[in-house]
Amino acid sequence: MELRIEPWGPGDLPLLEKLLGDPAMMEHLGGPETHDQLVERQKRYERLAETGMARRFKIVDKATGDAMGSVVYWDRAWRGEDVFEIGWSVLPQFQGRGVAGKGTALAIDEARSEKKHRFMYAFPSVDNGPSNAICRKLGFALIEEIEFEYPKGSFMRCNEWRLDLFALI
Ligand SMILES: CC(C)(COP(=O)(O)OP(=O)(O)OC[C@H]1O[C@@H](n2cnc3c(N)ncnc32)[C@H](O)[C@@H]1OP(=O)(O)O)[C@@H](O)C(=O)NCCC(=O)NCCS
Repeated sequence: MELRIEPWGPGDLPLLEKLLGDPAMMEHLGGPETHDQLVERQKRYERLAETGMARRFKIVDKATGDAMGSVVYWDRAWRGEDVFEIGWSVLPQFQGRGVAGKGTALAIDEARSEKKHRFMYAFPSVDNGPSNAICRKLGFALIEEIEFEYPKGSFMRCNEWRLDLFALI
């Protein structure tokens, strides 16, 4: 399947509702958000997009134009260094077809072209088989298993994966 990534925009609240409002989708991510939380979140994303800081993308099927999921990366400090963190999510009806892997690979290309940070991290729950497989497949190195705070105030067992964006590919 051919797909592309597009910056998150106004009008993407329905996709956000399907991704973050669904208990099945949020199993590894601290549970679903409420409608009001999602409306606020969408506003925040639109403001961020206006500042040119948009690194949140929807993953779109080139053939049909269907929005299938999202991928996002952002700046954070980690172990005393400024790095990127990345996360992804694909709607149930499009899972198991390589959509998250391909969409994430495209977002990594964007991050690499920024030449801003050397390292990108991902922290999937140790129980999240597909996400750990994606990290491995996309060339992340497994650092270690850690206790990770997400969402704020709750802790889960995660794998710490690191990708060197400056490495020759
Ligand atoms: C995790 C998620 C994004 C995966 O999306 P997807 O489009 O189905 O993933 P892909 O098809 O690109 O890749 C999944 C890979 O994991 C493998 N896989 C699937 N289930 C697996 C399991 N239980 N154990 C190990 N590997 C598994 C697949 O074989 C595939 O690898 P391959 O392409 O080499 O065959 C999707 O399930 C999701 O959105 N879940 C809810 C939100 C979430 O957990 N986000 C991630 C937070 S880190």
